[in-house]
Amino acid sequence: MIVAPSLLAANFGRLARETERVDCSGADWLHLDIMDGHFVPNISFGPDVVRALRPLTRVFFDVHLMCSKPEILLEPFARAGASQISVHVELGDAVTQPLWKIKSLGKKVGLVVNPPTGIAMVQPYLQKIDFLLVMTVNPGFGGQSFIHETLPKIQQAAAWRRERKLGYHIGVDGGIDLRTAAECARAGADAFISGTALFRQRSLRAAVAKMRKIVQNAQTS
Ligand code: DX5
Ligand code: ZN
Repeated sequence: MIVAPSLLAANFGRLARETERVDCSGADWLHLDIMDGHFVPNISFGPDVVRALRPLTRVFFDVHLMCSKPEILLEPFARAGASQISVHVELGDAVTQPLWKIKSLGKKVGLVVNPPTGIAMVQPYLQKIDFLLVMTVNPGFGGQSFIHETLPKIQQAAAWRRERKLGYHIGVDGGIDLRTAAECARAGADAFISGTALFRQRSLRAAVAKMRKIVQNAQTS
């Protein structure tokens, strides 16, 4: 199981200290939301910020590209220290090339699906990916409410993984707190991206441990 705080909810005035907080938190991944002001109506940060944070921790850097032209950003983020790079299936046919490119750069390959997009869209790519990220809010902003209608997509993704004996992680991103993480775990998710619910706690370490425990209980119940 993966617990991944999302840096979007951190204090942007002290990103270095926030990254060090993640480093000591017991989290598995640091989720890095990259927004281009075009694919989503918001702008976050770019590869230079990721490069500056890379020496501060050995945690896995999970780069989520919410960008219309991911192809121009893959090499810069790979060089900046990404461990995994995910692109959106909403790009249509244009997604095939980036998936190959990410692999050829030696990084883990992720594919993301937005709430209104049918899960069938990801089917042709399942053999090629390490990570399937099911958005549980419409991307662009932190702090939104979890969309329950996304749960059947997680169940379908888990069923395909089982039937086809594939090994991709199934992640959920958006509105993930202790309650919704448990619901997603029961549906088959195993990677929990959480911004507001984790970063806003005084002890990130305690919050990560609590989420891990709740997910474990949900998986075995
Ligand atoms: C939304 C981002 C998320 C975001 C989640 O566009 O992809 O990763 O940080 O934030 P919370 O957990 O606050 O919904
Ligand atoms: Zn994200």
